[in-house]
Amino acid sequence: MNKSFQPDSTAEKIIGGAHTNREHDSASKHVTGAAIYIDDMPEAAGTLHGYLGLSARAHARITALELSRVRDAPGVVAVLTADDVPGVNDISPAGLNDEPILASGEVKFYGQPVFAVIAKTRNAARRAAQLADISYEDLPFATDVKAAMEAGHPDVCPPLTLQRGDVEAGLEKAPRRLSGEMHIGGQDHFYLEGQIAMAVPGEDDEITVWSSTQHPSEIQHMVGHALGVPSNAVTVQVRRMGGGFGGKETQANQFACLAAIAAKRTGFPVKIRPDRDDDMTITGKRHDFHVAYDVGYDDDGRIGAVDATFSARCGYSSDLSGPVTDRALFHADNCYFYEDVRLRSRPLMTHTVSNTAFRGFGGPQGLLGAERIIEEIAYQLGRDPLDIRKANFYGEAGRNVTPYHQTVEDNIIERIISELEESSDYQARRKAIIAFNKNSPVIRKGIALTPVKFGISFTATWYNQAGALVHVYRDGSIHLNHGGTEMGQGLNTKVAQALAEEFQVDFATIKITATSTGKVPNTSATAASSGTDLNAMAAADAANQIKDRLIDFAAEKYSVAKDMVVFEPNRVRIGNQTFTFAEFIEQAYIGRVQLSAAGFYKTPEIHWDRQTGRGQPFYYFAYGAAVSEVSIDTLTGEYRVDRVDVLHDVGRSLNPAIDKGQIEGAFIQGMGWLTTEELWWDDKGRLRTHAPSTYKIPLASDRPRIFNVKLAEWSENRKRAIRRSKAVGEPPFMLPVSVLEALSMAVASIGDYRVCPRLDAPATPERVLMAVERLKAGG
Ligand code: MTE
Ligand code: MOS
Repeated sequence: MNKSFQPDSTAEKIIGGAHTNREHDSASKHVTGAAIYIDDMPEAAGTLHGYLGLSARAHARITALELSRVRDAPGVVAVLTADDVPGVNDISPAGLNDEPILASGEVKFYGQPVFAVIAKTRNAARRAAQLADISYEDLPFATDVKAAMEAGHPDVCPPLTLQRGDVEAGLEKAPRRLSGEMHIGGQDHFYLEGQIAMAVPGEDDEITVWSSTQHPSEIQHMVGHALGVPSNAVTVQVRRMGGGFGGKETQANQFACLAAIAAKRTGFPVKIRPDRDDDMTITGKRHDFHVAYDVGYDDDGRIGAVDATFSARCGYSSDLSGPVTDRALFHADNCYFYEDVRLRSRPLMTHTVSNTAFRGFGGPQGLLGAERIIEEIAYQLGRDPLDIRKANFYGEAGRNVTPYHQTVEDNIIERIISELEESSDYQARRKAIIAFNKNSPVIRKGIALTPVKFGISFTATWYNQAGALVHVYRDGSIHLNHGGTEMGQGLNTKVAQALAEEFQVDFATIKITATSTGKVPNTSATAASSGTDLNAMAAADAANQIKDRLIDFAAEKYSVAKDMVVFEPNRVRIGNQTFTFAEFIEQAYIGRVQLSAAGFYKTPEIHWDRQTGRGQPFYYFAYGAAVSEVSIDTLTGEYRVDRVDVLHDVGRSLNPAIDKGQIEGAFIQGMGWLTTEELWWDDKGRLRTHAPSTYKIPLASDRPRIFNVKLAEWSENRKRAIRRSKAVGEPPFMLPVSVLEALSMAVASIGDYRVCPRLDAPATPERVLMAVERLKAGG
């Protein structure tokens, strides 16, 4: 018997239950290299390797595809083109049939996969992939939002409008007006483990695919489609990803489908792992946005009307651009009430890689638009932007309805702001910074406090469901499986903690197992921050089914009332007898109790009608705020983040240590998005920032010099989410908007704070310098 879960039967509390700090279940494996990723798995004899051949045009007709030199290259076993897809050559997650696995006839972005080489070694495949002779007939292309608008590009999916009140009348009657625009850059996911898939062919139509994916059920569905076989022939396995961040919600499909097609074709296992440059070129990213706004407000800075359009660089196909551009609108209010409002999305087709989910799903871009409007008002009125924020927060009835007609019922932003304002000493520091700037010719400082409100639930309502499979073995050890995927966020640890709490057993009693479509079917992507909310509830449901059976059994066997059967820490008390959990389970097994259950959960209360733009798409909101202080060098544009204070709401945290890690990581990732991470396409439509040499993610040395992260410990989810906790994955990504605004204030000091610098994102040192120069030149 495994000693590790032999409990101390007199313990008062279980070890590692809900609301306790507990390290990530793989933490030491992650840092020692013992954690097994797909590329670490032993390869079966005969395993082949795939590599992709890419388009060298942004938009063109392929007039000739000459692959004989590729076929003849040493070690090459097969070369696949669109014609070799046995089923449907499409992996469009929106079902719009606009995303081929391999392009045929026409290429729509520079770097689009056109063929795949399968060879005995990865190197052989990679070399051979360079030997294709492709002839193109060039077609016109546009790679950014402005050019796409000018070229009259279509939307890749239906746009959305949210409105409430009468925006024209609201603008008309407002005492003050402003209008403006902002460019917001995209972002590469830069997961440490790149995209990878390994497919192992089985008998008949069967195939097993190991994929680094956030969405095993979709991989299963897409592989089935591509092979022309039903889903029941395809099993997808995911132990962990080395980061996903939304970049593996749909982007893993291509690699998984190609590996599966090649495996079936050759009869051998096939692994595909692009190198970093190709990964960055081939896979979708965060959407760039252009925001145009027209705002009416009054002398106190209170917003009356907002009319705004959010246009996004979607890339050549729809992918998840629908939900991403929708969510931009859902968060274009952030924490603020707009009396009359109209928000419109424009999901524009561009000749670039198809953009996709990325932490926050367009929410960060929408929220940034709201914060820019606040800034503009503050500078026009000569006020601290924090005052303008406070004047516009959602409040009591009459000021608590969002542009999508959901009432904000759980608003705690005022308390968060006032506690943070106090604990960070915001007011005194802002005064000191203004005084400092007066006497500092080169270095200028800025400070900003910005709030976050983020809606939790998938806006595609049917996605808000989850399953889990729990087995209790005869020795009392527990096997946990659920439909969520682990990408470093600690989902498995938190779900296991919740399950330990249900059974009242130590965390060590539970074995967390790899996600498999064969164990829990029809799962949703692990995304929208809802992994724990959904899967822990499903696991709790499974536990409760088993417990109900155990209680019935014990009550009958010992002739006691059901409420005399109590699960105590690592033991079960039945009347006046007590057994260890393992002893009791052995009795139940002998008594022929079913010790396994499939659990299920669906989020209650939510509904959303996209046609009318009305509903209650979110079960609840998560809140947070951050104060950032920066210094800029006005001669070079370089800057440093001196101090950050965060107060963030995760309800009653299931695991404060993991949640804090999520907040810190999200902050740094969001800071990278808004400061140094710049995607740059050249005049041929070629992405030139496709490696860490040209694309700068934050380093350890870029972290805030002082970084105080606190949870709002008094908060608890008013909704019945798992143990009153709240989702944590995405909301803190928006906290570093405070960094951008602090940079903006430092720049504004050059013009004595009279002009809002309208700094676009990312505020790279170059952009900061140009903004400084503009102000020095007088505007
Ligand atoms: N944390 C780590 N370490 N790695 C990741 O890939 N993805 C983020 C967030 N935190 C991610 C992460 C994104 S985009 C989401 S939606 C959530 O985790 C998903 O997991 P959850 O729903 O279990 O929080
Ligand atoms: Mo997260 S962008 O929802 O995977």
